[in-house]
Amino acid sequence: MDAIECLITRRSIREYREENVSKQDIENMVEIAQMVSCWENTQPIRYVAVLEKELKNQIADECTKPYPWNTENIHAAPALMIICTIKGLSGYEKDGTPSTTKGTHWQSFDAGMAADHFCLAARTMGVGTLIMGRYDEEKIRMILHLPENYDISCIIALGYPKLVPAASERKPLKEVLLIKE
Ligand SMILES: Cc1cc2nc3c(=O)[nH]c(=O)nc-3n(C[C@H](O)[C@H](O)[C@H](O)COP(=O)(O)O)c2cc1C
Repeated sequence: MDAIECLITRRSIREYREENVSKQDIENMVEIAQMVSCWENTQPIRYVAVLEKELKNQIADECTKPYPWNTENIHAAPALMIICTIKGLSGYEKDGTPSTTKGTHWQSFDAGMAADHFCLAARTMGVGTLIMGRYDEEKIRMILHLPENYDISCIIALGYPKLVPAASERKPLKEVLLIKE
């Protein structure tokens, strides 16, 4: 698959085949995803893969109660990736002072870049993904025993797609692109 096809055909996947995502698949995806650009090469992202079904379903049942559609999304997927960002690296000097006036903005920026790189890496391997932003961060931290300096930036359901939906409509170019000539 070439890069343009990969970019154009990426979709959020919510229906998956029974087939498991293997530890080897995960390692391959993260190795590719790790090539993403980041703040001063601080490499602040940690990838926590949940392949054990009971643990994944516990996260679905206990950490997404107010968002039942995400409970369903996680149950439907064979695996879950938790994208974590180590606090205080992106956008900060080594002594902890902020490098810009934008506070934690650069941490979120790096997390978004990493999440997208991960989803595209998965796509090249035929694995579908769904980024989710609604969940109970503290409950996930407790269940997975994540360190306090990890921010959970997003969670990503993943698996081999059963159904690939049509692309949702995009805004016209004239609304999103401004060219000063
Ligand atoms: C930051 C972010 C948070 C999202 N959160 C959720 C979510 O909690 N639940 C969900 O079903 N989809 C979620 N999505 C998926 C979006 O709804 C989806 O990307 C969008 O509708 C466009 O569809 P596409 O990804 O197939 O192009 C999220 C996507 C992003 C990037």
